[in-house]
Amino acid sequence: MKIKVIIMKKILIHPETLEHSFTPPSLPHREKERQLLVKRFVNLFESSESYTSWVIYGHSGVGKTVLSWRVEKDLREVFGENILVAYVNCRQSRKVYRVLVEIVKQIEKSVPEKGLSREDLMTLLFQLTAEKTGKLLLILDELGVLLTDPEAEKTIDMLYSLSRFSERFRDLENRLQIGVISIVAKTHEYLFYQWLDKATRASFVKSEISLSRYRKEELFNILRFRASLAFRPNSVTDDAIDLIASFAADRGEGNARIAVDILRSAGEYANEKGDEQLDAEHVREILKYHPHMSRVDSEIFDTLDKHKLVLLLSIIRALKAHGGSYITRLQLGEYYRVLCEEYYEKPRRTTQLLRYIKELGQEFPGVIDVEVSGKNQRGRSTRIRVNVPLDSLEDHVIKVLGKRYRE
Ligand SMILES: Nc1ncnc2c1ncn2[C@@H]1O[C@H](COP(=O)(O)OP(=O)(O)OP(=O)(O)O)[C@@H](O)[C@H]1O
Ligand SMILES: [Mg+2]
Repeated sequence: MKIKVIIMKKILIHPETLEHSFTPPSLPHREKERQLLVKRFVNLFESSESYTSWVIYGHSGVGKTVLSWRVEKDLREVFGENILVAYVNCRQSRKVYRVLVEIVKQIEKSVPEKGLSREDLMTLLFQLTAEKTGKLLLILDELGVLLTDPEAEKTIDMLYSLSRFSERFRDLENRLQIGVISIVAKTHEYLFYQWLDKATRASFVKSEISLSRYRKEELFNILRFRASLAFRPNSVTDDAIDLIASFAADRGEGNARIAVDILRSAGEYANEKGDEQLDAEHVREILKYHPHMSRVDSEIFDTLDKHKLVLLLSIIRALKAHGGSYITRLQLGEYYRVLCEEYYEKPRRTTQLLRYIKELGQEFPGVIDVEVSGKNQRGRSTRIRVNVPLDSLEDHVIKVLGKRYRE
């Protein structure tokens, strides 16, 4: 008897590249900002200037942290051992004192964690940096957290000392260059203006960048790129990526973290099943449990008339036949006509059909997305997307239709 050995090839081969702690080699749609920051910091460290500072603002998941890490890596490539870097997440440290300890310990491990004042730590930071290489990149992530009470005043002190060190340590000035990247979540932006008086702001914040929320097309490109690092070549369909990008843009407010997480979960799911491709249906399985996902409320079916149910069924059938993440109204046409015949319904004209499609979108918020895209040569096109697994939705619709109209 021959024993057949099936070697299942996994498609998600580098899951670690989808961790949020991973810094990808490039950042689609943030390359302009990356180059600008790198250029300005290289200029600082190659000049005789002593200080510069950038603040990055933006909503959650717009790439603030990863942009700062990418800039850090780029600067290390330019300056090698000659640059010191300290990265601290202020949300984790919570207190200005802890933040300072963290920073100084990244410059010199042997510094004690207790017994020094904030003032001592600041002085140590400048002295140690000057002794070592003289060039320091400091990344203060989630700095806004420290601008809430009771830390706000101490934070202002720290920022003030950072920006004015050259006045206090005249002897160090020529041997010390400090570049600061501060990251402030959009929700904390106002605190910066509330707490920092004009003078401090002018000396601390030299320049600002505001990162906008990702649009769907941008998320698509980001996911495509991240998938190329994590998955076997050609194993992730555009339909799968399109569905994730739409979901993260609409339901996740353009948050790339949500998008990357779904890509990873869907990849793990396809791996477990031993499938050779990640497609839209895998993504729907994952979205089913997503906290941002609206549930299908089974009571809604009772409120739909027969025609709407037939229309919904034809959307599901068309999606299954086309296999993509969405179908257009034109593609829907033939499935709709066939089902109308099967269920003795009179097919509606285009305008009324379009209205019904839009209503379905409103009746199943988050489950059925209806998108009217811009004008092309053939006029506007309507795209219909279903975010839940098609099989179970189909079963349900058939059951309701059967119960009501066939018996
Ligand atoms: N342009 C991009 N290219 C590739 N990956 C990206 C890009 N932008 C964000 N990401 C990825 O999306 C996830 C979230 O990004 P990041 O952690 O930088 O967001 P953030 O703005 O710091 O959010 P928060 O305010 O919640 O901390 C990370 O996994 C990151 O690698
Ligand atoms: Mg962040």
